[in-house]
Amino acid sequence: MIKRVQAWLGRKDRQQPVEISPDNIPLHVAVIMDGNGRWAKRRGLPRIVGHQNGMKAVKRATIAADELGIKYLTMYAFSTENWKRPKDEVEFLMRLPEEFLAIELDELIEKNVQVRVMGDAEALPSYTRKAMEEAVARTQNNTGLILNFALNYGGRKEITDCMRSLGKDIEAGVLKPEDITSEVIDSRLLSGGLPDPDLLIRTSGEMRISNFMLWQLAYSELWFTDAYWPEFNKEHLLQAVAEYQRRTRRYGGLK
Ligand code: FPP
Repeated sequence: MIKRVQAWLGRKDRQQPVEISPDNIPLHVAVIMDGNGRWAKRRGLPRIVGHQNGMKAVKRATIAADELGIKYLTMYAFSTENWKRPKDEVEFLMRLPEEFLAIELDELIEKNVQVRVMGDAEALPSYTRKAMEEAVARTQNNTGLILNFALNYGGRKEITDCMRSLGKDIEAGVLKPEDITSEVIDSRLLSGGLPDPDLLIRTSGEMRISNFMLWQLAYSELWFTDAYWPEFNKEHLLQAVAEYQRRTRRYGGLK
């Protein structure tokens, strides 16, 4: 008999049971954490307070994903386009990994979490890079949940860089055009080594991809919620996974 996880979702007065089957947990969940600014604005607070609370939601999501048996969790923390924001906000966002890891790294280590990062690290301030490098180094041998931060990440840049590297190898005569396969491209992307996301979650009611994992999301199931990212909690993750389990994935074929 299949063991099922039953959880109660919704407000206390309108709770509904949700059943999660442990044999169909998405291996890789990717998250577009959106709505920090609007969450803050609604409360008459500065946008950075939204980001601060967004950081707490990262912790909640990580713990919940780990408990559920998700193996890879990729979080879109800063895009290559986010540099267009006011200087103060960018600086605040760049300080968050350092702050997050100062508070949470020991517990992440205790939980056997492996921290990874994908994106253009060279353009990051040294304090951001240093914090991430330390977390990656200190958790590299951990075998539990892989917590992958997309930091200064852009899907088009990732694909452009991949094409450039392929072009250079062809020019140097070490690669033939016919050797370029889907697997070769996979291996040269920043996510190389990670399976494609099974499930993409985006918060805040926006329904777009925003330059996130354009190649890797080809067959991901998409789940959107109106909740702003700072509100995100275990219930939302359970709802997303329950919905994922109701979907039939056909990959262009027939069931
Ligand atoms: C989008 O909301 C959110 C971001 C650009 C930043 C996301 C970052 C975090 C949630 C914290 C990351 C934490 C760590 C540990 C790296 P928005 O600001 O665009 O919200 P809005 O659309 O309502 O303005």
